[in-house]
Amino acid sequence: MLLSGKARLAGVIGWPVAHSRSPRLHGTWLDRHQIDGAYVPLAIAPADFAASIPMLSRIGFVGANVTIPHKEAAFAVCTSLADSARRAGAVNTLLFQNGEIIGSNTDGIGFLGNLRAHHVDPSAGPALILGAGGAARAIGAALLDAGTAVTFCNRTRERADHLASTLTARTLDWSQRHAALADFALLINTTSLGMTGQPPLEMALDRASPAMAVADIVYTPLQTPLLAAAARAGLRPVEGLGMLLHQAVPGFAAWFGVTPSVDEALYRIVAGDLLG
Ligand SMILES: NC(=O)c1ccc[n+]([C@@H]2O[C@H](COP(=O)([O-])OP(=O)(O)OC[C@H]3O[C@@H](n4cnc5c(N)ncnc54)[C@H](OP(=O)(O)O)[C@@H]3O)[C@@H](O)[C@H]2O)c1
Repeated sequence: MLLSGKARLAGVIGWPVAHSRSPRLHGTWLDRHQIDGAYVPLAIAPADFAASIPMLSRIGFVGANVTIPHKEAAFAVCTSLADSARRAGAVNTLLFQNGEIIGSNTDGIGFLGNLRAHHVDPSAGPALILGAGGAARAIGAALLDAGTAVTFCNRTRERADHLASTLTARTLDWSQRHAALADFALLINTTSLGMTGQPPLEMALDRASPAMAVADIVYTPLQTPLLAAAARAGLRPVEGLGMLLHQAVPGFAAWFGVTPSVDEALYRIVAGDLLG
């Protein structure tokens, strides 16, 4: 580790933040590129968030990632927003530059990067997105921008309808998700179903077309019940940890001046105990 008095500082802001794999990820890249810098966990409570951001910039941080529950609050503290943040309605990456707080959202680009790494063309056909939360919006916007037709399907239909009207997409009722599967080339789980401690996501994958790719953005566990079912059905599974790795690339490049690569060795390091 190279760490001098002139080190560049960045970090991940969350509440809680102890579970975050981002320090391990960015720390690996800092080591690989022998960069004089550090990336640290920043546990900041919601009540302190708005005041802490300008302060971080004043004490020498070059930027930060923002995670749950601050992604919407981060939108409000920025003095400048990238299109990706406006489209996603949330910010996950901050860059402090020339007195500005610049916000962007890299979840969509990270999702597309991970699809491509799995040899899945994002524009190969219509996508069915399960969920209508923050991640669904960022991914939906990125797919629409890539020219893919998007349908949102959420337990709470009104949230899907609202999202679809904001982004110009379609919606389906939660109960219709099985019957409609054959119409899609890509299925994406952005709900928390399938996460460790949560019920699995029930999907009748036998109704899918054989070429369908099935992406799950949940990555604890690495292989969710949905991904295991997709593999058993002969469909193409796309796991969620890769999205976390790919979404981190633009922030690292902006803060530390080097565009890092995502590879199998990095995946194994960040997956750590998840690989078992
Ligand atoms: N791989 C990555 O890099 C990455 C990046 C971002 C997020 N994620 C993961 O993606 C997931 C969603 O994140 P988010 O920020 O979008 O969360 P969020 O805004 O809280 O949205 C959660 C979504 O899950 C749905 N949901 C929750 N419990 C459900 C249940 N029992 N049955 C059906 N639907 C249910 C909600 O539906 P309702 O609207 O009906 O409540 C909502 O659509 C999390 O697991 C997060 O860890 C991964």
